[in-house]
Order: sequence, then structure tokens, then C-alpha cells
Amino acid sequence: MYTHAIIYLMRIFGRERIFTPGPVEIPDRIREILGRQIIHHRTPEFREAFLETRDLFKRLVSSGSDNFVFFTSSGTGAMEASVLNFFREGDKVIAVVGGKFGERWSQISRRWGLKVVDLNVEWGESVDPEQVEDMIRKHPDCKGVLVQMSESSTGAYHDVRALAQITRNRDTILVVDAITALGVYNVKPEEWGIDVIVGGSQKAFLLPPGLSMVWFSDKAKERLTGRSYYFNIPEELKKQTEGQTAWTPAVPLILGMRESLRMLLNAGMDRVEAVYRVMAEGVRKAVEVLGFRIFPRNPTISLTAVEPPDGVDAEAVRKEMLGMGVRVAGGQGKLRGRIFRISCMGQDPIDMVTVLSALEVAAVRAGIRTKLGDSLGVYLETVKDVL
Ligand SMILES: Cc1ncc(COP(=O)(O)O)c(C=O)c1O
Repeated sequence: MYTHAIIYLMRIFGRERIFTPGPVEIPDRIREILGRQIIHHRTPEFREAFLETRDLFKRLVSSGSDNFVFFTSSGTGAMEASVLNFFREGDKVIAVVGGKFGERWSQISRRWGLKVVDLNVEWGESVDPEQVEDMIRKHPDCKGVLVQMSESSTGAYHDVRALAQITRNRDTILVVDAITALGVYNVKPEEWGIDVIVGGSQKAFLLPPGLSMVWFSDKAKERLTGRSYYFNIPEELKKQTEGQTAWTPAVPLILGMRESLRMLLNAGMDRVEAVYRVMAEGVRKAVEVLGFRIFPRNPTISLTAVEPPDGVDAEAVRKEMLGMGVRVAGGQGKLRGRIFRISCMGQDPIDMVTVLSALEVAAVRAGIRTKLGDSLGVYLETVKDVL
């Protein structure tokens, strides 16, 4: 057995492959754009590019509405912007807490003086829409329900379409963190009845971190408070519909976003979702063949949270893979050491062979398996029609 130091030396070109649920690997076409000389943002050139980016984003979410803004921040900034702009101090909200990012909704809302009722869901489970309905009945003064579409910390998918049916005809807005769902699923907030949806650049938009977005319904628009200075949705909306931003925007990220949206829309979001679905299915089957378990009951297709067999430390497996130049993400919070997470975002189906190869070798080194190749066979058999 080689030590890690020797293994690193054997990796002659030192390339690390990233299979984490953000950041994800950036396609060459986007990297080329990000490397260009900056353009000034108060110019017709920027205005034109930004307005095109906005038009493309409307197509991404299948809505003609102008009700959305981009922010220069990571995804959490857009979450905070949503809490600040759509709720007032003292408003009651229900936060679905089934993982680290659900906890974040609850924490941000408390920080800004909202009355938060946590709807606790066991980590790895998806929220039962009936529970949400019961909770709203118990709290008829509740102004909003905050949830993740894809809870990246556990790999669980929450059925936001079903939740929207519950909030649709009530005085409650449904606020969805779709940070690891936009660009993977063909998300249609207007058609589905979602009121606020949040995204971030370093996930399935295949960009570096630093650009986020908030889309909102007409129902949510009536609630706008504008009580944040930097994250001021009413001010941004006015500027952005004219092709400008209130503050200096992340110009290269906006130009990169335009390219990313072009790529996604050229492929077609139905097809993008279908390919991610097959890839995720292939990864799940492959890891199960190796004796690992899928952590969530109803998994998202953007990433797979994997639990090793009893007695095997998930962190040790992750580090073993890292030694081979393959980076997957560890567990967060109380799942640290229990799971690791493999993302499909930004990968073509054939790329996933790399991460599964590393996992197979790690499984053999951990003594879980004696033979190589089984998971790859199962994976390739599952995805062969989309290769
Ligand atoms: C579902 C979800 N919500 C929120 C966040 C936080 O986003 P950021 O780290 O960009 O602030 C992440 C990032 O991993 C996420 O996956």
C-alpha cells in the first residue's frame, strides 16, 4: 500500500477533479469568457449583455415575468435577501428543517426578528406535504413557508410542487431555496405556484461563486418591504429591468451566466433534467453494488449522499479518493464522518466514471470489496443511452 505522499507524487500532472455539490467544474467556454478583460458596467455593451441574460433567465424558469433580480453574493445572500424583502419583523414563518440548509432558513429568519416555527424533519427524509398543511392550519397567521428543493446536506428532495398546491390559495408565500436545483431540474415556479425561488452561480450554472438570484411571483411582489440596503429588491428590480444594477455588479459572472444559460437552453431543460436523472440513477446503483447505502429516502438528482457500510468512516473514504485526485464532499453538521456526497452538476455522463473508479479503489483499500470494476459496469449499463 502506498502512502498518500507517494500517491500524490505519482499523479504527475497534479489535476484535481471536483465532484462536490458546489463549486463545480467550469466548462471551457465559460472559463474563456471569465478570463477576458473587464468591461465597464455603465456602458451600452454591458446593458445589452445583461438584458440578454435576463431574457435567457426568463426562458430558464419558463416565465415571461420580470420579477427577478441578480445579486453579487453567494446563495446565502439571496436567502437573506428573500427573508428581508418579503417579510417584516414579527411575521410568522414555517421553516422546514431537514438539514443544514433548512437550518439556515430558520437562523436567518430568527436573526431578522421573524417568529419562526421549525418543522423538523429527520435528516435524510423529505417533508410530508400533509405535515406542512397541518402546520399551516395550526398557524393560520403564518406568512410564509421556507424550504429547500434539493437539501444538499442530506441529498434529499422536497416536493415543492406539492407544497405549492397548499400555499397557492392561502395568504402564505412559498419560498424555495433551489440553489442546487436550478439548472438541474426544469423548474417552473410560475406554473407550479412557487412564490420565491433562490439560486446560486457555483452550482448547476457552472460558474464560480459570487452571483445569486431571486425570482418571485406577483403575490410575493405585493409583500416587498425593501428593508435591506444592499439587497434591496425594489431598487434592484427597477434598475435591472433597465439593464443596470443598483451597485457594481459581478460583470464577468454575468457574462458567464449568459453563456451558461445559452448552453442549458440550447440543450433544453427537459433534456438536461433527463440526463441528470439517468446519471444520478447510475451513481446510486453503482454505489449500492459496492455495499454503500443511499442516505436520503427520496434523493435529489443533483447529488448523491452516500453512507458507507457499518464500521467504515466516510471521511476516510473521502480522503482516500482525494488522494487519487478526486474531490467529493464530506458530510456537514451531524452527518460529518457518516456520509460523503457526490455531485453530478457540471459533469457529462462519461465523467462520472472517474469518481466511481476512485470510489471502487477506495472500497477495495478499505476492505469492503476484493474486486474492481463492478460499479462501473452497473453505471455504464444504466447511462449507456445518454452517452
Ligand atoms: C441547498 C443550498 N442552500 C444554500 C446554500 C448556500 O449557498 P452559498 O454557500 O452559495 O452561500 C447551498 C450551498 O451549498 C446549498 O446547497
